[in-house]
Amino acid sequence: MPLEAVMTALPQVVTPKESLAHARSLMDEHGIHHLPVVENGRLRGMVREHDLAFLETRPGVDPEKVSVADAMTANVYAVAPDCPLGEVFGTMADHRYDAVVVVEGGDVIGIVTTVDAMRVLAGLLGASTGDLAPSQVRERIQADHQRLLGLLDQIDAVARRVLDGDEDAEPRLRQWAKDLYGFLQAHLYLENEILVPALADTPGFGNERAEALRQEHREQGAVFERVLGRLARTALAEPLATELKELSRSLRDDIAREEREFLGADLLRDDVMPSDTFGG
Ligand SMILES: [Fe+2]
Ligand SMILES: [Fe+2]
Repeated sequence: MPLEAVMTALPQVVTPKESLAHARSLMDEHGIHHLPVVENGRLRGMVREHDLAFLETRPGVDPEKVSVADAMTANVYAVAPDCPLGEVFGTMADHRYDAVVVVEGGDVIGIVTTVDAMRVLAGLLGASTGDLAPSQVRERIQADHQRLLGLLDQIDAVARRVLDGDEDAEPRLRQWAKDLYGFLQAHLYLENEILVPALADTPGFGNERAEALRQEHREQGAVFERVLGRLARTALAEPLATELKELSRSLRDDIAREEREFLGADLLRDDVMPSDTFGG
């Protein structure tokens, strides 16, 4: 299993100068406990929910005025996306790290916490994500789609800069293309793991629906590989930008169609008994 299939891609980040109150609102809004601290595009540290909780209760501390720099840990475990998962989890256990930041070319591209490690373990032990209720499956896939759309927004913006003749934007665009590939692989993996089984349990043609999605993913996987492989070999910035914009558009269409056909609230319902529980 690749690290990218486990991590939360494009996590929320803060800068050292931002306030504790801002960090707190990000954590509350997104239901998270860790924020990588980034300055000028470089990872500077990590701030945790319990660091905030500790400072917030100290007398005389105004969370609006105290900055993240005063709460963060500068020493943070960071790995490249191709680092083997076993090595990452082993180091986390040995050093009692509760999170690892995934960094590529200096950019923070993901975060893996002990909760993610537990999810992998649950999957290995068979208590897998298959135990998620249909509505939870829908929420997780929709959240992943939102992250993917955020990544596509960034790609579109950088592609536009390249097409406007901004040479500095080119390395950035190549980086985004690589990130997109990793993200898509992880996304297909997640959908095959949790959405395909949930669809198989939907009433009326559940298995056909699950097989249709699985087949679509096989085809998409091949397309991504081909397009992104071609992009990696494209020496010219402009065709790269044009092709990425094109890919971004078709991915947006795919997401919209998938949400319509496979993620409807009327389809993935918690009150419907999977047909196989009737025992024939
Ligand atoms: Fe999909
Ligand atoms: Fe999807």
